[in-house]
Amino acid sequence: MSKLDVRPEGKLDSHSMEKEKRRTSHWLFSRRGPAFLDRIFRYGDPALQRIQAYVTRGQTIADIGCGWGAFSFDLADIVGTEGKVYAVDLSRKCVDQIRMDADRRSYSNIEPHAASAADLTFIKDRSVDFVFANGLLCSMAIGRQAAVAEVKRILKPSGYAYLSLGMRYPFGYVSHDEWESILSGFKVQRGGSYREKWALVSLKEE
Ligand SMILES: C[S@@+](CC[C@H](N)C(=O)[O-])C[C@H]1O[C@@H](n2cnc3c(N)ncnc32)[C@H](O)[C@@H]1O
Repeated sequence: MSKLDVRPEGKLDSHSMEKEKRRTSHWLFSRRGPAFLDRIFRYGDPALQRIQAYVTRGQTIADIGCGWGAFSFDLADIVGTEGKVYAVDLSRKCVDQIRMDADRRSYSNIEPHAASAADLTFIKDRSVDFVFANGLLCSMAIGRQAAVAEVKRILKPSGYAYLSLGMRYPFGYVSHDEWESILSGFKVQRGGSYREKWALVSLKEE
C-alpha cells in the first residue's frame, strides 16, 4: 500500500471498470451509500473556502470523484454559464442523479460522466483550469497513479488542482509515502502535509 499502484496505459474497458468498482468496495469511503451522508460529510468541509481564490467565472473545472455532486453545483454557480464543470464519478448511480438534478435545476454547464479518474479521455489535454479532487485518491482502490497522470494531462499550464484525502491510511488508500510521492510531482501552493490531508497544487514547469 505504500507504493503507487501501476495501471497499464490505455482505455478502461467495461470489465476493468467493473473490477475497479468491486475493489472500491467500501461504501462509506467511496460514498456510494445514501446521498444524505454527503450532506453530513459536506457540513464543515472547508474545500470551497480553500479554493475560492483560484476558481472564477468562465473557467472549465473537472470535479473528479464528484460523488452525488455535493460541490459540482457550487462550482457550476462559480463558473457561470460561460464556464463548464465536468462531474465525473465511477458510480453511474451518482452520475445519473447529478444529470437528473442538473436537468431539473436547469444547470446547462454541468457535464456528467460515469468514468474512472484513471481514464479521462473525453477531456482534452491542457483544457481544464481547475481540477477538484475532493476525497478522490483515498477512495481509489486501484489506478491512483494513472489518475494523477490524468490530472496533469488535462490541466492547463496555468491551472491548479485541489487534492484532498477524506481519510488517511488505513481507512483510505493513500499512505503517507504515497501522498508525498504524489505531491512531489507538483508545485505545492498551499497545504500539503499528510496531517492536513489537502493540497492546492499547480504543474511543475517542464
Ligand atoms: C469520498 S467521495 C467524495 C465525493 C465528493 N468529491 C465530495 O467531496 O463530496 C469519493 C468519490 O470518489 C469516487 N471514486 C472512487 N474511485 C473512483 C475512480 N476510480 N474514478 C472516479 N471516481 C471514483 C467514489 O465513487 C466517490 O463518489
